[in-house]
Amino acid sequence: MKDQFGREIEYARISVTDRCNLRCRYCMPECGVKKIPHAEILTLEEVLHVAEIFSRLGIRKIRLTGGEPLLRKNLSTLVRELKNLSGIEQVTLTTNGVLLKNFAPELIAAGLDGVNLSLDTLDENIFADLTRRKLFGKVLEGLQTLDKNLSVKINCVPLRGVNDGEILRLAALAEKNFIKVRFIELMPIGCAWESGLRGIPAAEIFSKLEKTFGRLVPVREKNSLQGPAKYFQPKNFVGQIGFIDALEHKFCGSCNRVRLTAEGFLKTCLSFDAGLDVKKLLRAGVGDEELSEKISDAIYHKPREHFFDGDKKFRDKRQMYQVGG
Ligand code: 5AD
Ligand code: SF4
Repeated sequence: MKDQFGREIEYARISVTDRCNLRCRYCMPECGVKKIPHAEILTLEEVLHVAEIFSRLGIRKIRLTGGEPLLRKNLSTLVRELKNLSGIEQVTLTTNGVLLKNFAPELIAAGLDGVNLSLDTLDENIFADLTRRKLFGKVLEGLQTLDKNLSVKINCVPLRGVNDGEILRLAALAEKNFIKVRFIELMPIGCAWESGLRGIPAAEIFSKLEKTFGRLVPVREKNSLQGPAKYFQPKNFVGQIGFIDALEHKFCGSCNRVRLTAEGFLKTCLSFDAGLDVKKLLRAGVGDEELSEKISDAIYHKPREHFFDGDKKFRDKRQMYQVGG
């Protein structure tokens, strides 16, 4: 369906838990976060129910996120059921990879189309420092179990003075593997704002990579589900390098996504609290038709653009682990 600005909304990011087994400095405080009681989290049946309504409204791609989505029991069953919805063409997962080795086979068997692995470093000490957990070995094992037929993207958030030295090594993963390594500018959301960490502008990463790998040749986008990343390929690379520079270039004009939080709030823009309390309606026993109308109305009113550089009081107070990126 189209929103009020004519954008075709066809992609839903669904967070299935706000819990995580890492404590990345830009995402969660050390002590963890106040746990949302289980009863407040959508059941997998409820998630499927909302996804079915989404699909009837024109959503074609679903990404499962968290927190860490692999902490949610029976996730591969959900993947299988989502894949069975008519209209849903792609079901993908964003994970930190710690539990990937355990679940990759059943997720692939369930029809998962792709995995985005959040990985900011290939150095186990930097990993331990940044995520406050010594689990790098597990992530590496997870990465190695990924099926060659699955679309794999690695997401790295470059941080000044933290993983600057890791950028080339991470990018080089795309040299011989058919994967996409993406660099994401740090967004001023939740902890990232307070942690004192500073991102590195995409343009700076870009020229650093060109110095080492030669010209980054732009790759033409094949389909509209691809999202806001811009992709490039150095000569001799089989994989690609991507950039998501939300701050320098607003891509709100072509935003095609909505988000469903683990608590069942339909969030229509990352930077605002605009949206709809879907769980409340679901649990009040509202019928499908009315629910669909309300969801459709909320999507229609999706805000025009983010406002990260604007006044703090307009920012959504939700943290990244509650929204799933
Ligand atoms: N800015 C940019 N990216 C972030 N992520 C988490 N917090 C932020 C932030 N403040 C990334 C994670 C993960 C993806 C879902 O979002 O590293 O790769
Ligand atoms: Fe967990 Fe991802 Fe947040 Fe790190 S960035 S604490 S892996 S949700």
